[in-house]
Amino acid sequence: MNNLDLINFFDSVEDDSLKVLKGLDSKTQKKINSKYFYDEKGSILFDKITKLDDYYPTKIECEILEKNKDHLKKKLPSNSVVIEFGSGSNNKIKKLMEAIDKPIEYIPIDISKEFLFKNAKDSAKDFPDLKIKAICADFNQIDMLQKIIGKKKSKIGFFPGSTVGNYSPEDAKKLLINFSRILGNESFLVIGVDLKKDREVLEKAYNDSEGLTAEFNKNILNGVNKICGTIFDSTLFSHKAFFNEKKSRIEMHLVSKKKQVVEILNTKIYFREGETIHTENSYKYSVSSFQNLAELSNFEIIDVLKDKKSFFGVFIMKVKSI
Ligand code: AVJ
Repeated sequence: MNNLDLINFFDSVEDDSLKVLKGLDSKTQKKINSKYFYDEKGSILFDKITKLDDYYPTKIECEILEKNKDHLKKKLPSNSVVIEFGSGSNNKIKKLMEAIDKPIEYIPIDISKEFLFKNAKDSAKDFPDLKIKAICADFNQIDMLQKIIGKKKSKIGFFPGSTVGNYSPEDAKKLLINFSRILGNESFLVIGVDLKKDREVLEKAYNDSEGLTAEFNKNILNGVNKICGTIFDSTLFSHKAFFNEKKSRIEMHLVSKKKQVVEILNTKIYFREGETIHTENSYKYSVSSFQNLAELSNFEIIDVLKDKKSFFGVFIMKVKSI
């Protein structure tokens, strides 16, 4: 396929094991960064989760994009480079692409290389005339990304799936500022945000009746095993997810079923029975709380698109010129 370019900039194996060790070695709450969910198996599992009845965000976000195509076309510039932060389902980018007038290039960026490159190949089939450049990288590699993407053209960033919810509000602010720098002045960002709602609906979405979320959660240990050479036995942990009202976030944990020891980089990690590893936060915003966050992060809100029940918001934002 001559419209397709695949670039790998993500390999920091050593660094990663140190980071994982730091999270697990702590005397307080043990944690593993949720980015390690997305090895190939994890990405496939997540894709299955998005199709579950209990997991509402993906379906609703797609509906919002589908219903507002004309509106998006009016608000977003023609002849733009579209940069997707994290390559999720091809479904969403397809909807956005259909809404945009004459996109000139599509650049998905993700740390999960196999999944990214596979999706990029599928997109190349979906859009045979579109130039596609898939970059395997971390969103923190700003300078490199700026260089590859270039400064001149009009740009539209796309950050769907409420991935922003994985970051604490403080880190989300840093992330959005990074995006604003990667994209540049006058660029746009279309971002999906899961909204605050009844606890029951939220908790069901992370405790689905088919047990896929539990499997997804445990699979993070397989990812960690590959990266760090550990020998976590994921069957010795159970899944736990609940809404933390005070922090307005879903928390996912892995609960140790028994007392156990796991070694990482020659350091022994001890688990008590019932002790947890915190694997993910998924923050839920109100429209106004997200608006505040965006305004503090170099963006101005152009528009907010929602479903009827206000379960999910798609924010159209513009980088403030400095
Ligand atoms: C991809 C981060 C948006 O937080 O809802 C789904 C990941 N975790 N089920 C989310 C996830 C458990 C998802 N995000």
